[in-house]
Amino acid sequence: QVPELENATVRMKNPECVKERISSLRREGTGKLQVISDFDMTLTRFGFNGQRCPTSHNIIDNSRAISEEGRKKLKALLHHYYPIEIDPYRTVEDKLPLMVEWWTKAHSLLSQQKILKSDIAQMVKESEVMLRDGFNTFFDQLQQGNVPLFIFSAGVGNILEEIIRQAQVYHPNVNVVSNYMDFDDDGVLRGFKSPLIHTYNKNNTVLENTEYFQQLSARTNIILLGDSMGDLTMADGVANVHHILKIGFLNDKVEEQRLKYMDAYDIVLEKDETLDVVNGILRYIL
Ligand code: TMP
Ligand code: MG
Repeated sequence: QVPELENATVRMKNPECVKERISSLRREGTGKLQVISDFDMTLTRFGFNGQRCPTSHNIIDNSRAISEEGRKKLKALLHHYYPIEIDPYRTVEDKLPLMVEWWTKAHSLLSQQKILKSDIAQMVKESEVMLRDGFNTFFDQLQQGNVPLFIFSAGVGNILEEIIRQAQVYHPNVNVVSNYMDFDDDGVLRGFKSPLIHTYNKNNTVLENTEYFQQLSARTNIILLGDSMGDLTMADGVANVHHILKIGFLNDKVEEQRLKYMDAYDIVLEKDETLDVVNGILRYIL
């Protein structure tokens, strides 16, 4: 069926169930399918040569547009809140207000930095961001199969869009919901548009504009891609889900989080920097 499922990075709690679901997705055809994916650390790499790769926020933090002082403060926020974000021993309810705090503080710091709209493309060019290996095949397969790709990100929409534009994979079947920058008439950043999207509200509460999913109401089969426990609710905007296959990248704190991820995601990819497994499944289905 899909040889990539034998890769050493793959973990499944119920392999039979996964095989059945993949068969159903293939049998019911591409006209019924849509893909919903997270961005940072799901479509982009978590690490390269032992170094962490940047999130869309980090790309701004590390850029020349930010003062040394600003960068220090943003790093301090990351060091404080990221361990909370991924802490397997805290509940989502417990984390939620803290994530709002992180995003609010970070966005407020960024808004004090006189970032120009015209800086964005250069920021991305000079950054160390990398899409996961196999990204070309992933985006191209979906476009050729006429399968819509919905990118649901708590990162920065302007940066994310620029990354996929520069990689030449921002095809017409791609739709993005994320945090967008708000610029004044001179093109200077003055804030972020609402609603605020953070790791743990990627669900119906921010999908007020469900027109997208209404248009796709016939596409009741879903492949969901994420790297966080917060990504599991990203398909909540779809009214009638027939089959859903959840694929989770487990990047960090692998031992501690393994069981939780295996319970929540149908397929868990441990320290896998590629889209090979996803591409293998798509090749079989499309
Ligand atoms: P995602 O939903 O596209 O994965 O993006 C959310 C990630 O962004 C999340 O893992 C935390 C990260 N983040 C930063 O790296 N820096 C920040 O300042 C903030 C607010 C979030
Ligand atoms: Mg992510």
